[in-house]
Amino acid sequence: MRDEGDLSQQGSSLLLGPDQVGQAAQLLQQGGVVAFPTETVYGLGADAANDSAVARVFRAKGRPEGHPLIVHLGVSENLSKWTTSSDDRMLGLAEAFWPGPLTMIVPRTNRVSSLATGGRDTVGLRVPDHPVAQELLRLVGGGVVGPSANRFGHVSPTTAGHVLADLRDKIDAVLDGGSTEIGLESTIVEILDSGPIVLLRPGGILSEQIETVVGEKVIDGRAGVSRAAGMLSSHYSPSAPLRVANSSQGAGPGTVFIVAGHGTKSANAMSRNFGSPGAITLRLPADTRGFARGLYDALRAADATDPLEIVVIPPTSGPMLAAILDRLAKASGPRRGSGNAGGSPLGTG
Ligand code: TXA
Ligand code: MG
Repeated sequence: MRDEGDLSQQGSSLLLGPDQVGQAAQLLQQGGVVAFPTETVYGLGADAANDSAVARVFRAKGRPEGHPLIVHLGVSENLSKWTTSSDDRMLGLAEAFWPGPLTMIVPRTNRVSSLATGGRDTVGLRVPDHPVAQELLRLVGGGVVGPSANRFGHVSPTTAGHVLADLRDKIDAVLDGGSTEIGLESTIVEILDSGPIVLLRPGGILSEQIETVVGEKVIDGRAGVSRAAGMLSSHYSPSAPLRVANSSQGAGPGTVFIVAGHGTKSANAMSRNFGSPGAITLRLPADTRGFARGLYDALRAADATDPLEIVVIPPTSGPMLAAILDRLAKASGPRRGSGNAGGSPLGTG
């Protein structure tokens, strides 16, 4: 269903180049839904102050309402428009890490659609570090919600092609800004009145970096009650069952291996027979930044071969390791609603 005032072509999503950011901004201002690049993954944008536009984001993704969306702000946006907090720790982290891959969950103002915050009194805020996203946010001149631009429960998109593979015809446009640099979603921390800073999702900004800025310990919130929907198991999943391993042992034909290291640079380098006959191997860089950058593309490429199993042999050390292992644990976790580990990842958290 298309809303009134929708500029898009009926039934098909526009693919816009980075020089067409003005058109993307116009679509957003008119209540449209436009995917856009960030330094982490592609986001599915809508005007954060427009309830019906935000509702379309939930529908396009198949995401149940009640799962809050983060709000993206431009570099010169005034934080006090979006949060009632003036916590020094929040201000210090904004100063240190924005624009960048850090989302802060803080008390909200009424400006943001309550649909976007899932009815909560908090909002996730982030200033992305990507020239196309920044230009878009500058032209729109407000907040833009941006969940990852994938079908709910699926692997996040790191290219415009990934977005279209999941959401073609469900969104007005995708603004192409090339492959995303980091490749995994932002670090999420919660900073509520005088409580400790709680890490809800590891990402490109490390707890240690945050601790250095604020001078206090960051609590790992992942052990406790699930507060961010992305913390539920079986998020970020390919369709095939996924296993994390440190060697190829026990894997048979019909396996796709995603392996850190062994020389080549990209997941496009597919070769047969890592470990067992009939297996396919996708090689990613051995360093965690390169591995993180290529992981979701490799998972999609692996899935496209309709394998019996995907076996990922991740790097063993490096700055992005916590984020990589977090996403792999979710992708290999039990899948709700399927009754077995190999079922569809859809309909999950
Ligand atoms: O890197 C990223 O963060 C990307 C890019 C596009 O910016 N966005 C992204 O959004 O990963 P999403 O919606 O796929 O993941 C954000 C997570 C969700 O698990 C959501 O439930 C949680 O953050 N979240 C957002 N607002 C929240 C809030 N107010 N309280 C608790 N959790 C919140
Ligand atoms: Mg997501």
